[in-house]
Amino acid sequence: MNGSDTVRLSVSLVEVTAGHEEEFHKLATAFEAVLLAKGYGRSELVRDEAHPHRFYAVRHWADAAAAERCHADPDIQALTSQIYRIARITHVVNGARKPDPMRLLLDERRAPSIEPDRRTGFDRRMRDVGRPDGDRRAGADRRVGPRRLRGRPGEIDIVAAARRAREYADAAFSRFKVGAALETGDGTVFTGCNIENATYGLTICAERVAMFKALSEGHHVFTRIAIVADTDAPTPPCGACRQILWEFGGNLDIYLANLTAETGRHQLKMLLPLPFDARLL
Ligand code: THU
Repeated sequence: MNGSDTVRLSVSLVEVTAGHEEEFHKLATAFEAVLLAKGYGRSELVRDEAHPHRFYAVRHWADAAAAERCHADPDIQALTSQIYRIARITHVVNGARKPDPMRLLLDERRAPSIEPDRRTGFDRRMRDVGRPDGDRRAGADRRVGPRRLRGRPGEIDIVAAARRAREYADAAFSRFKVGAALETGDGTVFTGCNIENATYGLTICAERVAMFKALSEGHHVFTRIAIVADTDAPTPPCGACRQILWEFGGNLDIYLANLTAETGRHQLKMLLPLPFDARLL
């Protein structure tokens, strides 16, 4: 049990926040199902009889490579990040990989080849509860679309959405208008613009407006955000926005653009190295 490649058992202590037991059980069951269905191994949950909210999650990996694939699997990552929101996890036996406190959200191993469409994960849809009536027309002012990219059917043009959102910016003091468009796991797009006021300090950026709109409507899974300003140089998100985007959106793809062209693409983990988040509390 020293982290060598031959050990194929991982054990984590899971302390579930009171009131979230049912949600945790659903997530653990889904996690177990994915492990079995994809041949990664099996997982069992052992309850600590002395502590009603304390469990031991025991994972028996098929082999070391299966454990690696499992950690890189976007379905697993989505489930794990949901579990992290309602539980404190301590790795007791790490038989599959070396300790790496950054691994869950940094998402190093996720490659486009293993994740052709990040919006297809069942778990993302399960958790992404926005618009429960399923009527995509309701709230049409929020929904941007159905403008799709030519040549790439199915992909929403979030840069165009951010450009339109920018027109609503209230930047009377800086005159610097910004628009943002944030895509959720189910393909819904929430837009935002910066809004300033006479105190200056209460200004809120376009990115946070978009994120808070989405969160306030029950969305918790995000894939991409576009940010648009009328500048030749790229306008990357400010530090405060990086923190909020990271905590609620994880390693988003960030598209920067001006009114006529895209000016850069980045992954949030590259813009926010060594992040502080709930895992460190
Ligand atoms: N701003 C944004 O909305 N997003 C950014 O990424 C950079 C800055 C806003 C805040 C403020 O209203 C104005 O731009 C100038 O800083």
